[in-house]
Amino acid sequence: MAEVRRLVKDIIPARYELAIDMNDQAFEFGLDETIEFELKRASKTLDFHALDLKVKSAKLDGKLEGRASYDRDEHLVTFTFEDEVTAGQHTLKLTVAGEIQDSLHGFYRSEYGQGEHEGRFFMTQFEAIHAREAFVCIDEPAAKAVFEVSLTVPDEAGYTVLGNTPELSDVTRDGRRTVRFEPTPKMSTYLLAWVVSQLASVEGKAKSGVMVRIFATPQYAGQLDYALDFARRSLDFYEDYFAIPYPLPKLDLVACPNFASGAMENWGLVTYRETDLLVDKANTSLGQKQRVSEVIAHELAHQWFGNLVTMSWWEDLWLNESFASWAETLTVDTLEPTWLWWANYTAGLGAYAREIDALANTHPILVEVPDPKGLDEIFDAISYFKGQGLLRMLEGYLGAEAMRDGLRLYLDRHKYGNTVTDDLWAALSEASGKDVAGLMHAWTLLPGFPLLSYEDGLVKQERFVASPREAKKLAAAGEAPVWPVPWAAVLPGGRRSEKILADQDGAELPEAVVSADWFKPNPDEQSFVRSTYTESIIAALQQPLQQRTLGVADRFGVVSDVWATTAAGRTSSKAALDLTAALRDEPEFIAALAVYDGFGSLLSIVEPETERRRLEAVGQWLAEPNFQRLGWDVRDGESHFDTLLRPVALNAALRFDVPGAKEEALKRFADYAAGGQLDPNVRTPVLFGAARYGAAEQYEQMLALYRKEEAPHTRQAQLVHLGRFTQPELAHRTLEFALSNEVRLQDTVYGLAGVWRARDNREIAWQFLQDNWDELVRRFGEGGHMLDRFPGFPGDAFSTHAKAKEVREFFAAHPHVLITRPVAQAVESIEMRADWYDRDRQDIAWFLDQWEASRQ
Ligand code: BES
Ligand code: ZN
Repeated sequence: MAEVRRLVKDIIPARYELAIDMNDQAFEFGLDETIEFELKRASKTLDFHALDLKVKSAKLDGKLEGRASYDRDEHLVTFTFEDEVTAGQHTLKLTVAGEIQDSLHGFYRSEYGQGEHEGRFFMTQFEAIHAREAFVCIDEPAAKAVFEVSLTVPDEAGYTVLGNTPELSDVTRDGRRTVRFEPTPKMSTYLLAWVVSQLASVEGKAKSGVMVRIFATPQYAGQLDYALDFARRSLDFYEDYFAIPYPLPKLDLVACPNFASGAMENWGLVTYRETDLLVDKANTSLGQKQRVSEVIAHELAHQWFGNLVTMSWWEDLWLNESFASWAETLTVDTLEPTWLWWANYTAGLGAYAREIDALANTHPILVEVPDPKGLDEIFDAISYFKGQGLLRMLEGYLGAEAMRDGLRLYLDRHKYGNTVTDDLWAALSEASGKDVAGLMHAWTLLPGFPLLSYEDGLVKQERFVASPREAKKLAAAGEAPVWPVPWAAVLPGGRRSEKILADQDGAELPEAVVSADWFKPNPDEQSFVRSTYTESIIAALQQPLQQRTLGVADRFGVVSDVWATTAAGRTSSKAALDLTAALRDEPEFIAALAVYDGFGSLLSIVEPETERRRLEAVGQWLAEPNFQRLGWDVRDGESHFDTLLRPVALNAALRFDVPGAKEEALKRFADYAAGGQLDPNVRTPVLFGAARYGAAEQYEQMLALYRKEEAPHTRQAQLVHLGRFTQPELAHRTLEFALSNEVRLQDTVYGLAGVWRARDNREIAWQFLQDNWDELVRRFGEGGHMLDRFPGFPGDAFSTHAKAKEVREFFAAHPHVLITRPVAQAVESIEMRADWYDRDRQDIAWFLDQWEASRQ
């Protein structure tokens, strides 16, 4: 594979001066740019990154004129000089012109609000490779430099102008206002940022005196306090945990009206999607408040891990993202211990990461980046949530203190520098006295993760590949990887076995495990593995599951393992269904998710109508207990987890037509449409019920609500549920609507997603995706982390061989660098489900016969 060329080998920038003059009417900017750099080898030409910029003049060292030429495919501008430029220090002065784009990357613009609240919002999003759209630079994470930025804007608009650092001066002359910022620390280009808009704010100080401010457009002035409190507490936590002060005097968090991902960790100026920062009592559910908390904790972790110490190149992206994800969980777990945040990880992102990593088309943590233009693709479940789980496993193995000390050492040793993964292992080894690289190399270098099985007093392992046909192919290719697995088990009476390191296929189980009546491997699901259980182990575990002597994460783990290995053809669907039926009364949110998710995955593979109806009757029966117990109203003093389970239970009740659910949902929706209040903690089921049982009348009401809604969370929920009406003509309308200018670019994906989830409308959604593919590529094909989500729609919705073929063929005819792996994963998972049904059809029928007989 061709090595990616790194410009930083030839040119090492030390300082950039950027004077940006912004035209907020014509959406253009002018830029006076100075770059101080060292040239490693004498040359007549100098290559920098630039995309869609026009260089009007280039002067080297105050004398040599350079001629600019462009290679748009390679994102390069080349300056050619008459005479050779000598190796050594130089200064390049440029005048540049660019456009403020209507996109979600580079220097871009959007609008916010409606009516009196309307205004314009200008901002940047540079990760991973979009700084080059705003200024000429060496746009690589290893090319760290100091940035001195100023922005000139019209004075009369009342703009707030924000940069990475505090402002140094703010001068108005002839109606133009110039805000100059203090020099930044030495940092990577992808972390530079600025924001210009009308903004409201609140502010406070961290314990260390660092100023923390939260910004949003003016209509959200009242929704900033939660973020301020959580950001301050997170900052206090990290300053203490890392034992390195936050390196800037201020930290701003800004809610932005049009934003591709959840948030971006620009140093000192963190930008957010509005739904991921704003909290108001009337409209924010408990789940969304948790999301805001975790996103804040994640981005603040990056201020050290990522910003202060940065990966040398994108193949080590996981250092950034897995670490921030791990630290985010540590922080939330510390600040809000009752949320059981690691257990929550197990049931959510940890399960999702295991699902993706069980595909043959996964990738190792250390991932090759053949073409930087495809970089967005690697910001995926593996780089984030698998790595998050691996770091948790490692912390369990090293102990919390050694982990913390190793991280302190690593950050201190490499501050303002760049690293590779082995630098982290070295610091952790020093702090712990353990061979960390020896433990972790298999985990970061190999694709996939182990499936453990227990026989004859031994724990065996092999790579877990969900699809038997893919597993066979890999086995035929001679693959037999082994991972060192930190292993223990939960035993009767709440005991734990001793810990072992299962670092070979067939490691010996501790005696206490072999002789126990039952054991549950992997306490709290701390290691990134799955287990397959013999029928006798499952039978033995039934009692501790039903009596809940196992904790929630362990209950989730067993059920989740059973379903995953069922999909993989190692456990029978009947056994999985029997276990699920036995846990019908599971009342705790995290454990109950395994029951709902497992059953849902089975239902998704059953295409024939009659069988599906029979299975839906089982779904109804499974949904009843929690529906009856929780009802529609949040009760004073109820448990946090009941509040979280309620919408899940209500949705299941609606999905399976539990008697009484429909009427209540429609009634509540009618009240809401007439101007009544709707508790955000039951918003999803009320909207879902209106879509599932409603028609044109409810659709018009929901659309009218969306059009006048200002609360970001509510708007997003309304948009998604417009897609869930079952009438084909309404599905068509929603799809068109999602691409109309009434839906912001950031929300297109939500508008389309809803339709995919209504089973009857999958075909319509699929046809629409194909018919509008060119338009989607036009909008999202240059990056910004959106395009890669689309293959997953058919990938999750379909489960026949015929559809797998259609999806494969369509995308083969429409290849794009941002979706290569997502397409392969989508096709593989459709095939996997199709195979599952072919294999277990009879098994499912047996379960149904037996279940129906027991109901007579
Ligand atoms: N650095 C990312 C944002 C990003 C992703 C930029 C992809 C460019 C391309 C940021 O730190 C992040 O990870 N955000 C997450 C939130 C998090 C809680 C997992 C997101 O946007 O969802
Ligand atoms: Zn991140």
